[in-house]
Amino acid sequence: MSTDTPARQDTAPDRPDRPGRRPGTSTPPIAFVGTGRMGGPMAANLARAGFDVRVWNRTADRAELLTGAGAAVAPSPAEAVRGAGILVTMLADGPATGQAATGPDGFLADAPGLVWVQMATVGADWTARLGRLAARRGVTFVDAPVSGSEGPARAGQLIVLASGPDGIRDVLAPVFGAVGRATVWLGPAGAGTSAKLVLNNWLVDLAETTAETLSFARRLGLDPTAIVDLLQSTPLGSPYAVQKATTMLTGDFTPAFALKHALKDAELAVQAARASGTELALTQALLPRWRQAAASHADDDLAAVYTAA
Ligand SMILES: NC(=O)c1ccc[n+]([C@@H]2O[C@H](COP(=O)([O-])OP(=O)(O)OC[C@H]3O[C@@H](n4cnc5c(N)ncnc54)[C@H](OP(=O)(O)O)[C@@H]3O)[C@@H](O)[C@H]2O)c1
Repeated sequence: MSTDTPARQDTAPDRPDRPGRRPGTSTPPIAFVGTGRMGGPMAANLARAGFDVRVWNRTADRAELLTGAGAAVAPSPAEAVRGAGILVTMLADGPATGQAATGPDGFLADAPGLVWVQMATVGADWTARLGRLAARRGVTFVDAPVSGSEGPARAGQLIVLASGPDGIRDVLAPVFGAVGRATVWLGPAGAGTSAKLVLNNWLVDLAETTAETLSFARRLGLDPTAIVDLLQSTPLGSPYAVQKATTMLTGDFTPAFALKHALKDAELAVQAARASGTELALTQALLPRWRQAAASHADDDLAAVYTAA
């Protein structure tokens, strides 16, 4: 494992001297597929850093928002990758990514030589499947999910959990440098997703225990806010748990990380654990409650699991 902490890019919005390319680099045009809560700011940061970025999104309005940052909008995934050297995918999950890859106007239709950087959280099985699809089309596959949510995505402060062929690191360093504060190279493709599943397992268990702790305190007649203050004054209160606890108590579930995606990630972690011959007893136990919460709060922040605790 190695960590690169690249120098921050110049984030000036316009580069009249070199429209479309970051000066001093040979980074080819970048296709960016999936401009949602995470992909939108990531693509904007790439465009603002001076890369030639063509975006595609199923809901075109969400892609159009990025023209202000200097990105061009493509009418299909296939058009987005035409002439591009690098493709970044940041779609919801494996099925959506597979559809954009091989469906009508899919980006794998004619893309030999492309470097495909898959950054969404799609789990181990889909990562292997997408890697095989790429190999069959002469496309280099890089598995690079990210740690950090909407705020870090906007600030270009994500941590990139990169995995793939060694030879590609230098080419991707400026790309990862524009979206993140650090890149950790973990090994061959698949290792990034494994690390992401492990981190997500920690995250979902922490969110559930936060929700249960607040609910437990309330049922014992305590003021949950006082418990959060107490936790915060000791090493027990991790910044993430304290932030989620505060969100849970305010009841403002404006999404930073939608519950539907967090539930998907909990399910992906349980599946990967089973496939590796182990069991995630805590994560398995939270699934029924999270599914119940997601029935009415799928698009809300994962803090909405408090409603089922
Ligand atoms: N939010 C976070 O904190 C966070 C952090 C790390 C990783 N992630 C992961 O990053 C990925 C994206 O998350 P997000 O928060 O950006 O989600 P999001 O805001 O819901 O965006 C999802 C994206 O996928 C597209 N999409 C969904 N279903 C599709 C389909 N069937 N065909 C084509 N496009 C489809 C959406 O298009 P439309 O705009 O048309 O709906 C949108 O571009 C997920 O895998 C998530 O688990 C999220």
